[in-house]
Amino acid sequence: MPATILVGLQWGDEGKGRVADWLASSSEIVARYAGGDNAGHTVYVAGKMFKLHMIPSGILHDRVTCVLGGGMVVNPVNLVREIDGLAAAGVEINPARLAISTKAHIITPAHIALDRANELARGKAAIGTTLRGIGPAYLDKTGRQGIRAETMRDPEGFGDALIAQIERANAKLTAQGLDTLDAQRETLPYIDAARRLAPFLQDTARLVNRRLDEGARVLCEGAQGTMLDIDHGDYPFVTSSNPTAGGALIGLGFGARHVDRVVGVAKAFSTRVGAGPFPTELDDEIGARLRGTGEHFWDEFGTTTGRPRRTGWLDLVILRYACMINGVTEIVLTKLDVLSGLETLRIGTRYRIGTEWTVYPTEIQDTIEPDYVDLPGWTGEIGGIRRWADLPGNARRYVDFIQEALSIPIATVSVGPERHQLVHR
Ligand code: GDP
Ligand code: IMO
Ligand code: MG
Repeated sequence: MPATILVGLQWGDEGKGRVADWLASSSEIVARYAGGDNAGHTVYVAGKMFKLHMIPSGILHDRVTCVLGGGMVVNPVNLVREIDGLAAAGVEINPARLAISTKAHIITPAHIALDRANELARGKAAIGTTLRGIGPAYLDKTGRQGIRAETMRDPEGFGDALIAQIERANAKLTAQGLDTLDAQRETLPYIDAARRLAPFLQDTARLVNRRLDEGARVLCEGAQGTMLDIDHGDYPFVTSSNPTAGGALIGLGFGARHVDRVVGVAKAFSTRVGAGPFPTELDDEIGARLRGTGEHFWDEFGTTTGRPRRTGWLDLVILRYACMINGVTEIVLTKLDVLSGLETLRIGTRYRIGTEWTVYPTEIQDTIEPDYVDLPGWTGEIGGIRRWADLPGNARRYVDFIQEALSIPIATVSVGPERHQLVHR
């Protein structure tokens, strides 16, 4: 059976975790292919909230095998913490349920310190990274001096590699006038974590290909979002990996012929956490209303960092671009319930910079004023609705407008964070 790739179409936090949880119910393997614990995927099941950072959302389904692909960067200490946190919540994890690619790269204390140092050095031009060491870890990978996960099979050699890397980082930190790291002390918890994780290591490309050949359905769970892609996002305000659909083939190691479905997840409005262009951003009370006050766990505050997210209207220029880059075959629109009660809903339809743009122009680095279409809002609680026909007419018109503008089916709408709060057409 073929593979499904699930990707975020905006700047991350579109609700990929809750959508992956739904698609996992009809998958045998759920695999993360890029990024690391910069991701925060929330799944809410029967009153229990799970915040997943590296482990795929499929872990909440007993039958599913989860994979951390070779395209990922893995912080072993945080991964052990995540495994233990899930075990405490009743989700048992063993090597039959979770496989870590031997080719994934390790995030070390050196990377975390350098991430912070780089952000400090950028000053006003800081990217607003999650400070998880993501950029420096991918830099070491492409610089061919990274530490691969397979090294954890030899905890002593792993410790030596970490110490050497921390010492290299210390030279840079000293040059920047920053505190250095105690290499020996920093390394100890990583060696402990390596001992715990070694049994989970395997050649996951072989595992995924074997299962595909046997007819299993593989769900590739994207992290981040299209506009954060190192190549296709709004560089330099991006992450250091390829969260777009192409990244799944590289990050897991299987061929394009297996892919029959690319599910794009879009939030019904826009959010961004961190710096960078945001054409439809709202700095007014409607923006604050979209963010929420923080009283609900789904309000727009970062899952990983707790930072308030920037908010704005839906942007069709971004979505058209994201659908093009990823080859999206269907869209899931999330958080439609959050728009209930707004009198008028605006949707950004195009930008004019010199010429008229309907697909995201890569030269954008500054604020621009998009053209908008205004649609009438709706009132009332829609979180309990499960049938398309029962949604308020204006809610259906809002979704239909987006579907027509993108010429891609919006087959599913999410009206709340809970597993069952989905409306399928
Ligand atoms: P991800 O990174 O793409 O997985 O998204 P996050 O989990 O970081 O952020 C999405 C937030 O919205 C989480 O708190 C979800 O529980 C919540 N959420 C997802 N879908 C819906 C929805 O349809 N309605 C509401 N109110 N919350 C949702
Ligand atoms: P999920 O999977 C939202 C953003 C950071 C910053 C930029 C670079 O939950 O959607 P990094 O730490 O990766 O070097 O930061 O990318 N960013 C995310 N924003 N959701 C995420 O993941 C993100 N992962 C990274 O805020 O702007
Ligand atoms: Mg998130």
